[in-house]
Amino acid sequence: MAYNMKKDIAEVLLSEEQIADIVKRIGKQISEDYCESEHLVLLCILKGSAPFFGDLVKSLDVPCEFEFMRVSSYKGDKSTGELNIILDMNREDIDKCDVVVIEDIIDSGNTLYKLKKYILDKGAKSVRLCTLLDKPDRRAEHIKGKIAIDYCGAVIPDEFVVGYGLDYNEKYRNLPYVGILKREVYEK
Ligand code: IMP
Ligand code: MG
Repeated sequence: MAYNMKKDIAEVLLSEEQIADIVKRIGKQISEDYCESEHLVLLCILKGSAPFFGDLVKSLDVPCEFEFMRVSSYKGDKSTGELNIILDMNREDIDKCDVVVIEDIIDSGNTLYKLKKYILDKGAKSVRLCTLLDKPDRRAEHIKGKIAIDYCGAVIPDEFVVGYGLDYNEKYRNLPYVGILKREVYEK
């Protein structure tokens, strides 16, 4: 007997096929944009972007390096606005690096806004932002108009989603698609 995770999902927002198309499209864009870069660094923001990162790097046709950071601006389900760095990247040659930050989702925008500034302050040559999902309706007032998403997989409505890296209390990250979690799952 298996658990059957699908029974906890109200609606599939992005199927495996749709995700594969997104990965292909963004992979092509990044490959074209960085074909002349000497030090392209794909920065995986743990834990949520791990599956997206893993697929995206394989769709790139340009040499790149990997880096990993773990940050959080959340306590429970509330964005605190503070960027808390749990794991940092340390590179002596950051001034030569073109960094593409790979995130799972942009919600209030606090995380990516602060992270981009942090990496630029460290001295990166350039920083661009890539996110699988964007919930524009949730953007914080003070961030609206101040953050440019360079590569976006899909714009989604203001719903709590899980899967393909995204979690609810650390669970459901292993679903191969993105879906809306049934209310009864987090209200029980
Ligand atoms: P932001 O700083 O508010 O933009 O938050 C981005 C982070 O919030 C993401 O990296 C996720 O960890 C988390 N998050 C926002 N919305 C969702 C969701 O619908 N499901 C799971 N995690 C989410
Ligand atoms: Mg996250």
